[in-house]
Amino acid sequence: MKRKLILLALTAALLLLWGCAGQTADAGDTEDLEEDLIVVGVCQVGAESDWRVANSESIKAVFTEENGYQLLFEDAKQKQENQISAIRKFIQQKVDYIVLMPISETGWDSVLQEARDAGIPVILVDRMVDVEDESLYTAHIGSDFEAEAALAVDWMEETYGDDPVNIVHLLGTVDSTAQLGRTEVLEEAVERHDNWTILTQLEGDFTQAKAYEVMCGYLSKGSTDIHVVYCENDNEAYGAIEALEEYGYTCGEGGVAVISFDATGTCLNLCLEGKIALAVECNPLLGELVEEVIQTLEAGDTPAKHTYVEETCFTRGDLTEEFIAERAY
Ligand code: AHR
Repeated sequence: MKRKLILLALTAALLLLWGCAGQTADAGDTEDLEEDLIVVGVCQVGAESDWRVANSESIKAVFTEENGYQLLFEDAKQKQENQISAIRKFIQQKVDYIVLMPISETGWDSVLQEARDAGIPVILVDRMVDVEDESLYTAHIGSDFEAEAALAVDWMEETYGDDPVNIVHLLGTVDSTAQLGRTEVLEEAVERHDNWTILTQLEGDFTQAKAYEVMCGYLSKGSTDIHVVYCENDNEAYGAIEALEEYGYTCGEGGVAVISFDATGTCLNLCLEGKIALAVECNPLLGELVEEVIQTLEAGDTPAKHTYVEETCFTRGDLTEEFIAERAY
């Protein structure tokens, strides 16, 4: 009997300890927050492209302790469910602001409502969300993807005139604002031009590896007369060029015209080399603009609902080695 009692007491003590440990693990999440700093929870898409890496660096450079911030940075590894979990974690941690780069446009209503119920402003960066209630996010800062695509379409019109244009279209991550905008404008232009044809649409997911894979898959079916490969980002362009060259195509003068979006360093070098015909700029340096929104809110003012960054495009003739070396990304 005595032994039974000791055993019971030990079990109870263990259970108590276990319970306490559980409590500190949960509470530990909020315990680490610095009271005198503005806590910003950033939920990044992933590291799928050179653009994305530059975008993360620009955020990390601004939200430093020296500038008065505590940055909680979550890389969602290109999965929306990871982004949703990260937002829920930020809500539990009671961060001051949530910065979200949404992987796709749909599927955000509930979790953004949870953030709103917790009184945490959500700032969208880069891409947009498609929600019933626009007040679920406080502000959005990013690119006008349709305007970017219009630059590509203008260039194709000027370059090809009435000549036939056979296009291989590499899509970015499906349902992302960047993909939707860049695709919609191209498809509308193809409808308007009888001499333009989309030979195929392949999903490149904004990565070099996927673009290479799908492009090889397409090219392996036999040779076609390809005039333009419209890649929805730089990394897709690198994968496409690799595949095209492997299958005996020439990229550049007299060969396939590769169009790319982002215009990061490697892309501009390839453009200068002549392998990329057109590089449409997509500016990843959004950190300072996000901070401006947060400072506006801290001051009790209302920031602009949408801020779009100015962007341009480059062909070989616009570039020099010095110009590329001086660019920040
Ligand atoms: O949303 C911006 C796009 O996402 C960039 O064009 C691409 O490189 C990135 O992954």
